Amino acid sequence: MPRLDGKTAVITGAARGIGRAFAEAYVREGARVAIADVDIERAKNSAREIGDGAIAVKMDVTRQESIDAAVAETVSRLGGIDILINNAAIFTAAPIVEIERADYERVFSINVAGTLFTMQAVARHMIERGKGGKIINMASQAGRRGEPLVAVYCATKAAVISLTQSAGLNLIRHGINVNAIAPGVVDGEHWEGVDAFFAKYENKKPGQKKREVGEAVPFGRMGTADDLTGMAVFLASQEADYIVAQTYNVDGGQWMS
Ligand SMILES: NC(=O)c1ccc[n+]([C@@H]2O[C@H](COP(=O)([O-])OP(=O)(O)OC[C@H]3O[C@@H](n4cnc5c(N)ncnc54)[C@H](O)[C@@H]3O)[C@@H](O)[C@H]2O)c1
Repeated sequence: MPRLDGKTAVITGAARGIGRAFAEAYVREGARVAIADVDIERAKNSAREIGDGAIAVKMDVTRQESIDAAVAETVSRLGGIDILINNAAIFTAAPIVEIERADYERVFSINVAGTLFTMQAVARHMIERGKGGKIINMASQAGRRGEPLVAVYCATKAAVISLTQSAGLNLIRHGINVNAIAPGVVDGEHWEGVDAFFAKYENKKPGQKKREVGEAVPFGRMGTADDLTGMAVFLASQEADYIVAQTYNVDGGQWMS
């Protein structure tokens, strides 16, 4: 029996990478999924490739009217929302003395405000519908501690862990579970950008940082998006009903090391 049979989900930033793997896993488990992304062409391609059960919805998590429109469109096309994954985020890196205010505001507006106000819009819908729900926020090992070149991104992910705690405690009275996943290092297009930042600031060759971080993971390699899908399915399932306001590391042992 599929574990998310008959459920509906909206996953932000699911046109590619980890979010797309979540969409595929949810459809395999019997859910219908809205791939909500600012890159609507890629979202449409991903939905087409996943096939029955996936739709594409245009959503820019930095704009309230876009969040509201995407939630309304998902509700009307899928009949309601049982599960939200707040997955859209961007990375940035710079030494403290080179951080630019505009970059700080851009990254916080996607990673933090985007998470909060998408969570709010979907929680309002879930409360009105009266059937509870599951909300999963994408944190990171970067939210567990600072890093010398990654102040802004680390701070956004610490904020996601904190928002998960407050929202989890506030929304459980409505039968809405809010929890988070903290991955370590996950291979994919996202890491091409990360690697480029480290090449610039640590004077490394392209690909070098990625190789080094992979070798440093106790499991012996970087994670893949598929390594995270088990936790995403579990937290969205009935088996997780009693889990509230938690952030789970799925990182091959990286944080512990
Ligand atoms: N890849 C890693 O190593 C890693 C590690 C820890 C945590 N994470 C987190 O996991 C999540 C997914 O990461 P990924 O590697 O798949 O990233 P990715 O860069 O591959 O994908 C991010 C997606 O978000 C979308 N997006 C960007 N801005 C948006 C906006 N304003 N509105 C809507 N969508 C927007 C992009 O179009 C893209 O499809 C992120 O929250 C990331 O911080 C990733």
